[in-house]
Amino acid sequence: MVNTKINLCGVTLDNPVIPASGTFGFGYEYADIYDINVLGSLSFKGTTVEPRYGNPTPRIAETASGMLNSVGLQNPGIDKVISEELPKLRACFSKPIMANISGFSLDDYTEACRKIDSEEQVAFIEVNISCPNVHNGGMSFGADPKAAEEVTKAVKAVTTKPVIMKLTPNVTNIAEIAKACESAGADGVSLINTLLGLRIDLKKRRPLLANTTGGLSGPAVFPVALRCVWQVYNAVSIPIIGMGGVSSSSDVIEMMLAGATAVQVGAANLVDPFACKKIIEDLPREMQRLRIDNLSDIIGGAH
Ligand code: SIN
Repeated sequence: MVNTKINLCGVTLDNPVIPASGTFGFGYEYADIYDINVLGSLSFKGTTVEPRYGNPTPRIAETASGMLNSVGLQNPGIDKVISEELPKLRACFSKPIMANISGFSLDDYTEACRKIDSEEQVAFIEVNISCPNVHNGGMSFGADPKAAEEVTKAVKAVTTKPVIMKLTPNVTNIAEIAKACESAGADGVSLINTLLGLRIDLKKRRPLLANTTGGLSGPAVFPVALRCVWQVYNAVSIPIIGMGGVSSSSDVIEMMLAGATAVQVGAANLVDPFACKKIIEDLPREMQRLRIDNLSDIIGGAH
């Protein structure tokens, strides 16, 4: 009997598999097709202080082994998330929840984090400083170590919950950003958000996406994500949540060997809504095949 449990920032998860924010709604939508309590945790749809309609359409484009999105943080706003979405999630999910929070200013981040802090089932706050699809916010905080440090400090001041900073790969040195977050008090980092990309409509001779650029995700980015996790593991001692193109139990193990404590699954949910369930069911078999008794023993094991 293998042990898939891991400890993330002091919280024990039954397994390391977490649907990534923006690919799994608020979770309860999936409860109609399977028991989502098989998940380790769940990172809900990126939430801002104010409701947002998101970017104009088209905002999705296919690519080889992946996709581009330029959703633009569509969400109902923190108050509605707390009053309407979380009660529905609580009704079908008893595991720790990861709240994904985005913002356009320090005040935005702190207000949303302060509000979510009183939600008992929220065990982690994942602070998105890496959205490539919005102007004057998102990625601009995560591309500069000083700004990343400021957001981390500000958020840490308003919550007692573990704060996990979500990082962008669209920088020269992701380890430097991770170190800035760690020194400002972050309890963990999650990486990678999507890679900035572009596609062009050949007939119209114009970008396919209304927002011109979008974020690339899916299996095509897996080696980039793995490299980033590897580099960040060498630079910090806080836990890392690895993500980017993960679509199988062997990808989960590879991410953990590179240094991830937990692993998020994103684009794979959009290809197959059962992706996380299948990965979790397959994980013990894959562990046996690779002679792994305790999953937590392999974290960073390839270094
Ligand atoms: C989006 O809503 O544009 C995607 C979120 C993100 O990439 O952080």
